[in-house]
Amino acid sequence: MITMPRVALAILALASSTAVALAQPGAPQPDYHPSFGDLMTFAVQPRHIKLGVAGRARNWPYAAYEASELRNAFNRIGRTVPTYRQQAIPDMFASAIVPSMDKLDAAIKAKDGKAFDAAYRSVTASCNNCHAGLDHAYIVIREPSVSPYADQNLTGGSNTGLARSKPKQASVQ
Ligand code: HEC
Repeated sequence: MITMPRVALAILALASSTAVALAQPGAPQPDYHPSFGDLMTFAVQPRHIKLGVAGRARNWPYAAYEASELRNAFNRIGRTVPTYRQQAIPDMFASAIVPSMDKLDAAIKAKDGKAFDAAYRSVTASCNNCHAGLDHAYIVIREPSVSPYADQNLTGGSNTGLARSKPKQASVQ
């Protein structure tokens, strides 16, 4: 029988034990601690976009849902990252964004398109005021002109979410 060199055996043993550790269900996973910027990027920014697209299309049920999601995201961020540069994040949100979110909710509840447009503009301005106030004036949020979410119907129009115009009639041959 051919004997493997000791080093090769050791490497094999290490590789297989690592594989077992990785594959084991319930094995401790390293914690991922999202930064404030991460949370803004994946919990706030997409919801701000979706809310803008849905509101412009006057898709009130969805806008109501997403406005609540955005508000809750701010609450969760405040719990995950309680302070930023020694300032309490929940207090910052309460003064910086909650008043314009309240206006937005009222507009959605009243199904008032004009009020929505004004409130959404004020929410977007609040995002930017906070960025500027915290030395991030170069993070400029604007109202989305199109949805980047090709797989989601945000306008409440047709079920397909594709063009809202009438589909072309199939030509009868
Ligand atoms: C309480 C203040 C505050 C409010 C309100 C706020 N932000 Fe932020 N945001 C920040 C700070 C501070 C950063 C930078 C975090 C860092 O990188 O340390 C940031 C970062 C971001 C980023 C990351 C930028 C990038 O390109 O990586 C995005 C996107 C963002 N914010 C979107 C928004 C949107 C959209 C809103 C409004 C709906 C909003 N923010 C409201 C404080 C705020």
